[in-house]
Amino acid sequence: MLAILDFGSQYSELIARRVRETQVYSEVLSYHTTAADLQKLNPKGIILSGGPSSVYDEQAPQCDPAIFDLGIPILGVCYGMQLMAKQLGGKVERADRGEYGKAELQIDDPTDLLTNVDTGITMWMSHGDSVVELPEGFAILAHTANTPCAAIAHHDKKLYGVQFHPEVVHSAGGMAMIRNFVYHICGCDPSWTTEAFIETAIREIRQQVGEKRVLLALSGGVDSSTLAFLLHRAIGDQLTCMFIDQGFMRKLEPERLVKLFEEQFHIHVEYVNARDRFLAQLAGVTEPEQKRKLIGYEFIKVFEEESQRLGPFDFLAQGTLYPDVIESADTNIDPSTGKRVAVKIKSHHNVGGLPDNLRFTLVEPLRKLFKDEVRKVGSSLGLPEEIVKRQPFPGPGLAIRIIGEVTSDRLNTLRDADLIVRQEINRSGQYQKLWQAFAVLLPTVRSVGVMGDKRTYSHPVVLRLVTSEDGMTADWARVPYELLETISNRIVNEVKGVNRVVLDITSKPPGTIEWE
Ligand code: XMP
Repeated sequence: MLAILDFGSQYSELIARRVRETQVYSEVLSYHTTAADLQKLNPKGIILSGGPSSVYDEQAPQCDPAIFDLGIPILGVCYGMQLMAKQLGGKVERADRGEYGKAELQIDDPTDLLTNVDTGITMWMSHGDSVVELPEGFAILAHTANTPCAAIAHHDKKLYGVQFHPEVVHSAGGMAMIRNFVYHICGCDPSWTTEAFIETAIREIRQQVGEKRVLLALSGGVDSSTLAFLLHRAIGDQLTCMFIDQGFMRKLEPERLVKLFEEQFHIHVEYVNARDRFLAQLAGVTEPEQKRKLIGYEFIKVFEEESQRLGPFDFLAQGTLYPDVIESADTNIDPSTGKRVAVKIKSHHNVGGLPDNLRFTLVEPLRKLFKDEVRKVGSSLGLPEEIVKRQPFPGPGLAIRIIGEVTSDRLNTLRDADLIVRQEINRSGQYQKLWQAFAVLLPTVRSVGVMGDKRTYSHPVVLRLVTSEDGMTADWARVPYELLETISNRIVNEVKGVNRVVLDITSKPPGTIEWE
């Protein structure tokens, strides 16, 4: 295991994922973690992440200096390197010129960390401070035009620092460096594989659950579907999958999901048709947050009723993933707890969002995984591509893509438009290139058009096509005009009540991906 101490870098999770790509398990921990706690975890190596602070800021996060004496190899990245240098007696200063973007790395010592890394390769830099005096026992491994100490090492103590970010894709040779650190310096084995994970997870689920019954709320997304496969493999019919149809899914999706699970995967699904209940709750509601909250409350109500009807159950399976449990730090740190404080933009609702006070014990076998690892596990268990590679779909579904009141008629209109978007995006080969592609229905706005010599006065549909790495930031997708033309033509011709298609060209930020 490798421990990553997070000093608030936007790249801390990325470092963890890169290490896992070398098939070595890694965990992101708060920079508060003490040397004693680290010792208990017994990591084979420690990586100190970057961070937004300057080591001389009053509030600059520090690590326990005792970690440098544990005898465990350490790699400091950017802020992590500067902190290590300062804490060990070196000197860090604001550089005359910061270095942001690409820089050519000139290698002075092509051994251990930099074995098989070519001199002159491009590395991604993003720093205003630089190490100007090395602590005792350290030597320079590499420099760039602006940064004399771009990579440093204390070979005997196995302490390393790099000023650049080997974890980002723009850093050629970054993975080679990470592999050198992980395998050669820390001596890790490549044992974190999908197969090993599945084997261990199945054993642990059986141990935890015994002969008891487990309930799982299926949504059709990759997390809950992978969870269903994993649990079914582990405990067979002790698992009950329940699918609550809120009535906000895409055209024919609920039917397809149930059929797929029942007929192809032989996993029984308790289908709960709650469409009318949800629609009744939303009658007359137009405010986005209220909509989201009402859907969330109703979901919990239906869930409780149905779990009593089908129960009793001892356990509830949840698709909690690693990013939800990371004890990381970033720029919004609550000084009293040292924990990340997120600013709420939208109330999220998904099947994993059930309240803690439900009287179940949780089974969360995916809690160590990143999303891309869940996809690999899903694939390996036999989940088809249409689920494994499915674009994200929000818990409240189409209800938050209908601006204004959600009615049965408006749902049908959006479903028809959405189906055309999906069909054409698929046909054009763009599906995998886009994070999400969907339609949004606008309220009250109507515009004049002409169809077959007749005047029309109908509603517009908005096309939202975005690229993104993780949903946190996004850009509007530059898709071929011909694709836009086909989608627009088909929607205006085939969807009743729509006479205009407009394209949303807002990035996130300042927009969000969904409209509500
Ligand atoms: P926004 O609109 O905040 O969305 O830019 C970011 C990503 O999150 C998805 N999303 C949700 N997912 N429950 C979910 O499970 C929700 O309530 C929810 N709201 C938004 C959205 O589709 C995008 O991928």
